[in-house]
Amino acid sequence: MMNTQGRPTRPDAAETATPVATFTGNRGLQIEEALIFEIGRPDVTGVDLPAAPKAASRLGKHARHAPLGLPGLTEPEAVRHYVRLSRQNYAIDLGLYPLGSCTMKHNPRLNEAMVRLAGFADIHPLQPLSTVKGAVELMQELSHWLLTMTGMAAVALSPKAGAHGELCGMMAIKAALAARGESRSIVLVPESAHGTNPATAAQLGYKVVPVPAREDGTVDPAAVKALLSPDVAAIMLTNPNTCGLFERDIVEIAEAVHAAGAFFYGDGANFNAIVGKVRPGDLGVDAMHINLHKTFSTPHGGGGPGSGPVVLSPALAPFAPLPFIRLQGGEPVLVETEEGLEGGETPFGRLTAFHGQMGMYVRALAYMLAHGADGLRQASEDAVLSANYVKARLSDLFNAPYGGRPCMHEVLFDDSSLEGTGVSTLDFAKAMIDEGYHPMTMYFPLVVHGAMLIEPTESESLASLDLFIATLRDLAMAAKAGDTERFRQAPRLAPRRRLDETRAARSPRLSWKDPVPAAEAAE
Ligand SMILES: Cc1ncc(COP(=O)(O)O)c(C=O)c1O
Repeated sequence: MMNTQGRPTRPDAAETATPVATFTGNRGLQIEEALIFEIGRPDVTGVDLPAAPKAASRLGKHARHAPLGLPGLTEPEAVRHYVRLSRQNYAIDLGLYPLGSCTMKHNPRLNEAMVRLAGFADIHPLQPLSTVKGAVELMQELSHWLLTMTGMAAVALSPKAGAHGELCGMMAIKAALAARGESRSIVLVPESAHGTNPATAAQLGYKVVPVPAREDGTVDPAAVKALLSPDVAAIMLTNPNTCGLFERDIVEIAEAVHAAGAFFYGDGANFNAIVGKVRPGDLGVDAMHINLHKTFSTPHGGGGPGSGPVVLSPALAPFAPLPFIRLQGGEPVLVETEEGLEGGETPFGRLTAFHGQMGMYVRALAYMLAHGADGLRQASEDAVLSANYVKARLSDLFNAPYGGRPCMHEVLFDDSSLEGTGVSTLDFAKAMIDEGYHPMTMYFPLVVHGAMLIEPTESESLASLDLFIATLRDLAMAAKAGDTERFRQAPRLAPRRRLDETRAARSPRLSWKDPVPAAEAAE
């Protein structure tokens, strides 16, 4: 392909053929990198610190007698190590990242500029409150936006991720039941739920009872009603659900759950599809986490731990964990300990040592203020439009199992269109890596065979979506044409070939052992 000046925009296939071997093991400017322990030497350091003053140890038998064994690197070596590793990674800043349910959307640079302001970046959780009034005000304003968008009564800002938020919301539910003198033992969880839902319920000692999905991929209120009993503490329901569908009977389900004296935990991981369109509080949700790193564009892990604030209904608001913010005469007051509590406030305890992720709060509020209410609604609409565009342009080659009605922010395909080709969902995903794309979410949700869950998000231009669609079409046609080698050998062009993923997940080796212990090496 030539540009308007007659210069090629893409290299020829022949030019890009991978050389078999190089002296260094590097592939052009893609540089191989050893483990930090392999390149580090104990006698090297990047910093020059004065010797620590001698002081009596208070550690007793816990005092360390052997060196820590940290790798020693000069500063340039340390910088190169991490930059080289980062170049082997894939990121939303590199290209489309279609991981369904994870919402890998653009992280606006405005957010980064705001979070680096010294008044936010350089504060410490233990400094006097009088010196961090602006930060408290920002937390209050973020809370206000979250409560306005969700139609709920209170918010716990401190949870560090969606799963942590689930734990927080379910602990509030447990506390509310205990306050009524009840200890119910069952939590209902639809089959299509994210694994963190049953894990959270089980972690709190509940028995998890699955709710089957009906033929259209949504939860049947009749199935919920059949499972409700005085022993059911809550239902955990995701809306839009993990099949990318809006649960249309959610109000009927909420009413039945409440009539049985149970609570409704809404998994808000997919809130990005409905911001500005519907308020979960109006649907009967009692507690819901919001993954700031999905809906409100804070980086996934990139800026430190994430943030999963939980909004609570009036029934659960009194049980919100410490610390929380109360408005007093229009002024935000940070309530940090039980001494600061007022009548009716009965927090279930605290989840984190301090107040949560200030960096994420600043980024999320910057995103909200930059977009405004209409912009946030537009972002949701565009995310849904992108997913439906992908769905429509692929529907002749892929099977959307619940394709009868428009999807929300993500489109779900199964592997029936690959039947008889010898290519599995996993093979297909690996071939996408060779084409320069991070794969979509695979084999989730479990209710669909060989699931491929694609969430393009609102960040992508039409040109970007079209190239992605063309790539998937090319791969699908190659699979149907019997070009199985392209799939079974994939990824051929990635820094690593196919790994034993089960072993990597089940028995990861997370610590490094010196193959020749230092003492032996010296002998
Ligand atoms: C539907 C759903 N629920 C819960 C979670 C857990 O959120 P987190 O990864 O922030 O812990 C996710 C994460 O992908 C999710 O997709």
